[in-house]
Amino acid sequence: MWAFLGRLESILYLSSALSVMVQFNPGLPLRINQTHLLPSSLKNRRVGLKVEGSNFTLEGFPFLILAGTMHYFRVPRKYWRDRLKKLKACGFNTLTTHVPWNLHEPIKGQYLFTGNLDFEAFISMASQLDLWVIICPGPYIGSDLDLGGLPSWLLRDPKMKLRTTYQGFTKAMNRYFDQLIPRIEKLQYHYKGSIIAVQVENEYGAYNLDKKYMPYVKNALVKRKIQVMLMTADNGLELTKGHLEHELVTVHMRNIQRETYQDLISMQGPSPVLMTVYTASSVDTWGDIRQTANPQVLMKDVREMFNLKFSLNFYMFHGGTNFGFMGGAKILDSYCPAVTSYDYGALLRDDGEYTPEYTVYKEFFSSVIVFPSAPEPERIRKMVYKSVKTLYFMTLWEILPYLDQPIKSIKPISMENLPVNQDSGQAFGYTLYETTIFSGHVLYSRGHVQDRGQVFLNERFIGVLDHLTDQLPITRQDYQDTHLLRILVENQGRLASGKNINTERKGITGDIYLDNSPLRKFTIYNLEMRTRLLQRKLPSLWKPATEEVKGPAFFLGLLRVGDNPKDTFIKLEGWKKGVVFINGQNLGRYWDLGPQETLYLPGPWLRPGKNEIIVFEESESGMQIQFARAPHLGY
Ligand SMILES: *[C@@H]1O[C@H](CO)[C@@H](O)[C@H](O)[C@H]1NC(C)=O
Ligand SMILES: *[C@@H]1O[C@H](CO)[C@@H](O)[C@H](O)[C@H]1NC(C)=O
Repeated sequence: MWAFLGRLESILYLSSALSVMVQFNPGLPLRINQTHLLPSSLKNRRVGLKVEGSNFTLEGFPFLILAGTMHYFRVPRKYWRDRLKKLKACGFNTLTTHVPWNLHEPIKGQYLFTGNLDFEAFISMASQLDLWVIICPGPYIGSDLDLGGLPSWLLRDPKMKLRTTYQGFTKAMNRYFDQLIPRIEKLQYHYKGSIIAVQVENEYGAYNLDKKYMPYVKNALVKRKIQVMLMTADNGLELTKGHLEHELVTVHMRNIQRETYQDLISMQGPSPVLMTVYTASSVDTWGDIRQTANPQVLMKDVREMFNLKFSLNFYMFHGGTNFGFMGGAKILDSYCPAVTSYDYGALLRDDGEYTPEYTVYKEFFSSVIVFPSAPEPERIRKMVYKSVKTLYFMTLWEILPYLDQPIKSIKPISMENLPVNQDSGQAFGYTLYETTIFSGHVLYSRGHVQDRGQVFLNERFIGVLDHLTDQLPITRQDYQDTHLLRILVENQGRLASGKNINTERKGITGDIYLDNSPLRKFTIYNLEMRTRLLQRKLPSLWKPATEEVKGPAFFLGLLRVGDNPKDTFIKLEGWKKGVVFINGQNLGRYWDLGPQETLYLPGPWLRPGKNEIIVFEESESGMQIQFARAPHLGY
């Protein structure tokens, strides 16, 4: 959600900023009693959440929002209730969640609102557990997702200006909102639902390419009968740029400075402060060390914010997992793709396990707010299954003839522009580009391989082209009598934020040169790794795996489990880089680069008896699939 760099600064600035705040917010009576302000106790629904002076009020009573963010799409549906109960039991009164457009409309005009994407069921469940809800319908949500949750098919328009009033964007957004917003509308406070506020867009101040855009989005919501409080959320320095007149400004903690509060006051007078993104840590990226935060400093901040009557939202209360290819990337000095776990140093671990901080915050919250105690769900049992030692394999090259017709093109085509998925292009996964070459010494990618391309001559691996390496020598030996050049390119995640999202294209995005000539005449395979690919009836190509087998290849193993499948973690010792599927569900990427070493395998995705594990390994197999009781997310 925000760059790690902001973290230290924010801690340094917070205490001075807080002392400025004191004069605007006289101390609050400690241990406020809000038991009459629960969804079940507030039967009369007339005015909802309002701002009155420096207080939030709910139905006229002073109200402190204590919220935690959780994403239904990052948690297996079977565990929604467990995680929500844990939110409640910790003392939170509100759930915050975001809605990812790219997952709800993966193909233009085809909407998914069922299964793990049934957010209405998620919100109703929160409501049953007596939680209020703040929802962030976007259209852009950031959240460290691929393209910040925007569908990549938007990028098929070369003139696309994401997050602006450019017609190509607003038309698509309006079509989507026609599907989405009515579902939110009926869950609003006034209709006895639990949604008390809607966040308009997300951190627009940091982007700010079009002054007319935020009012446009607001109008798109109001027009579709959103009546609850609207709010904007920006980090401290960008409050004035992202805010909407007459709507509440809320703060992300990065770069909190004296000016932040002066800005707040000058924009909306003395008003309640909602810290919309208060966090323990940040997103981890491949090849980096694990992000951690000092829990004591965090606790001190939270205490101070309470004394000053801030309303708070923990981003994340529970991060969950970037299942599939949903994770995005950020740019610091270079391109940094997010790891699969979205643990985020949150109060619940990525698999939903309690952390020591959970208990500390729970005790603290109960010392400052009176809430009817809700039982803490029991811990979910984990299991270490016996290693799967018998593996079968088939190489990627063997499977190619059985895939959908490849695309022929003189020039390379980016993933987004491939004529597949009813003209929505390819959003995620890998694309294979093949062409024939006869001589030449060096390949130059000129930055056109996004993000990581393994290069082969026929089946002979010759190297990698990526963000850091843009040339690759080819020796005479490499040629031998083979001439089929193959570049297997992986989209490792589009940027989740920043102005560069408009230029994001994946796959091969322009000409690749062999010495001085651009390569031509490509055969292109869409390897999106959808369930369909894996469950396709293939002639039995699976053969017993041996040490010599090299990737890219699929490896199949069978995991037998008892009558009550339990959560576990897949340990990928000896494997290099790839993706794991369990019974057709994509568990996400692994990479020996670290820091993450295990993948979370939720028990509800296993079935009693035989389970099919497929590993797509790009280079070297570990020859067995092992399991662990706890996650290893790195140090
Ligand atoms: C909190 O308020 C409720 C009524 O709204 C009351 O029943 C309860 O006793 C109060 N609890 C405390 C600890 O003051
Ligand atoms: C805000 O709430 C407090 C109680 O929490 C109350 O004492 C104060 O009068 C309220 N202020 C306004 C402006 O409503």
